[in-house]
Amino acid sequence: MRSTSSPSFLDTRFLTACLSLAVGGAIESAVAADPAVSWFRDITPLFKRSCNGCHNPNKLKGEVDTSTYAGFVKPGKHGPNFLAGDPAKSRILEEITGKEPSMPKEGDALTAAEASLIERWIREGAKDDTPEDAYSTRLKEPPTYAAPPVITSLAFSPDGRWLAISGYHEVLLHSTAELQLKARLVGESPRIESMAFSPDSHWLAVSGGAPARFGELQIWDPTTGGLTNGFKIGADCVFGVSWSPDSQRLAFGGADKSVRVIAAVDGKELMKFDNHSDWVFRTAWMDDGKRMLSGSRDRAMKLINTANGQFIDDINKLLEPVVSMARHPKEEWSAYGGAEGGVRVYRMKENQERTAGNNDVNLVREFERQTGTAHSVAWSADGSLLAVGSAGEVRLYQSSDGKRSATLKGHSGAIFALAFSADGKQLITGGFEGLIRVFDPATGELLAVFTPVPAGASKQVAAQ
Ligand code: HEC
Repeated sequence: MRSTSSPSFLDTRFLTACLSLAVGGAIESAVAADPAVSWFRDITPLFKRSCNGCHNPNKLKGEVDTSTYAGFVKPGKHGPNFLAGDPAKSRILEEITGKEPSMPKEGDALTAAEASLIERWIREGAKDDTPEDAYSTRLKEPPTYAAPPVITSLAFSPDGRWLAISGYHEVLLHSTAELQLKARLVGESPRIESMAFSPDSHWLAVSGGAPARFGELQIWDPTTGGLTNGFKIGADCVFGVSWSPDSQRLAFGGADKSVRVIAAVDGKELMKFDNHSDWVFRTAWMDDGKRMLSGSRDRAMKLINTANGQFIDDINKLLEPVVSMARHPKEEWSAYGGAEGGVRVYRMKENQERTAGNNDVNLVREFERQTGTAHSVAWSADGSLLAVGSAGEVRLYQSSDGKRSATLKGHSGAIFALAFSADGKQLITGGFEGLIRVFDPATGELLAVFTPVPAGASKQVAAQ
């Protein structure tokens, strides 16, 4: 149980919220005296229960999307789903009625009462009454917490002023001097997947989204705590954001298997790369800004031309899913942590000799295997140390010879995030437990432990 990370916990909570909404809707409609059938109040709960599992933007069976009005109004593979005002010419009714209705393809058929609600809605004109904020994930107030949220990402600003810590629906911005909460950056995305400060320290980029609904990139000004830009991207979460060396462009991967580059100023898509066959978790730039690296669950770290999205090469031998990745601060090397506990450092270079001997020519160093998935990797600012977070412990290695210099214990559960301070004096860890630990990387000594969410917030939450 402990290995399950909060994202699924959050999902459950989110679904519960949606369900209670649906139930509320059904009761209301039963009480009212035969009013017009409402798409949002009456029909969407039925579709949510019986249809949306197969008919949503990410799983468009028969090219039908029943999850929103905007989706449902688009024709399916064999034509329109309905004709407003004319039930007899509405395909959907053919599908859900009759002795053995063909839809839902699995699960219980709709009841006669439910089918007739849909019939009436079409007869009454099939109107859309979706409220403006129906699918909004914006919060009216900052979140409160029953327990510290799982930490998925940590980032220090290069100028040494800020430490950004991921929360639920927000980034908890701390000053590095006192390690105190200075601002809560509350955004639209329930889930924060990654964060990165621009090389000039002016901006904090945050990637995330709502699973199976939208991806989002946010750009914050850490000095004012204001949101500068928020860009919606695709229909699922986006991961592994990284800045181009000139602080102008952002690269990130997605659950849609793509890698994208956008302009930070206006979100314009500059490049899209579709050569991976699984989720893309990480990205990193080369110094010239013309090439970048992506790391995916498909096991590959791919070198990409950022100008035209051309695939250059896989830099590594395909050994295990890439779950974490970090560029060396000086060398054009990339460390990655694998799903099976492997940790390796590669040159970010074409892999031309590979086909001849099938040898892993770009491999710089292989480290000892971790006891579980290597969820996080991070270099110290001068590149002399590599930290690796897995299940319950963080190991520190000297990058010169690959020797382990310290083992940082005391965590429980997976460590999803690691960050070295710019002066190299602190290593911060976070993960499943939701606690921040501060270590001295030179000695492995634990310097501090704290909860990054506001104190006193813990009681109010249960009701949320
Ligand atoms: C378990 C998956 C599943 C569920 C649940 C499901 N469908 Fe389907 N649906 C499909 C598949 C697959 C197709 C493609 C045609 C086929 O293979 O029969 C389809 C096709 C359709 C089509 C025809 C599209 C076209 O133009 O050919 C309609 C309309 C439709 N579904 C409506 C519904 C409705 C309404 C519900 C809920 C009451 C529902 N479906 C539930 C899997 C599902």
